[in-house]
Amino acid sequence: MTDENVLNEFQYTMRHIAAAVHAITTRHEGQRYAIVATAFSSVSFDPPSVLICVNSDTSIHAPLMAAEHFAVNVLSLANRDVADACAMKKGEERFSCGEWQDEMGVPVLASAQSSLICRIADRHRFGTHTIFIGELVGAHHREDAKPLIYYDRRYIDISDAPDQGAS
Ligand SMILES: Cc1cc2nc3c(=O)[nH]c(=O)nc-3n(C[C@H](O)[C@H](O)[C@H](O)COP(=O)(O)O)c2cc1C
Repeated sequence: MTDENVLNEFQYTMRHIAAAVHAITTRHEGQRYAIVATAFSSVSFDPPSVLICVNSDTSIHAPLMAAEHFAVNVLSLANRDVADACAMKKGEERFSCGEWQDEMGVPVLASAQSSLICRIADRHRFGTHTIFIGELVGAHHREDAKPLIYYDRRYIDISDAPDQGAS
């Protein structure tokens, strides 16, 4: 396989892995930052920790390199407007919809399915991205939220998905 084929197959594969959508936020020198991201994973329960992968070209990257905390706001279907604001607007305008509160100095979306507030414990640069590892310092969860899922370059409602295992 050529390098180009490997990349094409990788992109195709990633496009067809359904992924939860998050608004990653931080604050640096008084300014709030947000991006939409799917590259999130839990790392361990001991200590409770997560990771996010952020492209070094994004506006939130330099603030995350300097900040002490970030929040992972797991978006619900009802937060589609927040995902769109992060994709289409810049800077502070990304916070123009949704109710944002401050926790440990970072923006937390009150209506998110879940919010994980993390202290940045480690940073690891690889290729175009930096992996930020965060230790949990706070968490919120709403029982009544349906997840916002990204699949094949669009947002989908998985509650409409057929149950393939049902007989
Ligand atoms: C559904 C979706 C998922 C994304 N996931 C990531 C991600 O995990 N990491 C990342 O660095 N950028 C991700 N992006 C791209 C950033 O959201 C986008 O590049 C960023 O908002 C633009 O950067 P700016 O803040 O410099 O304008 C994603 C975009 C979309 C629409």
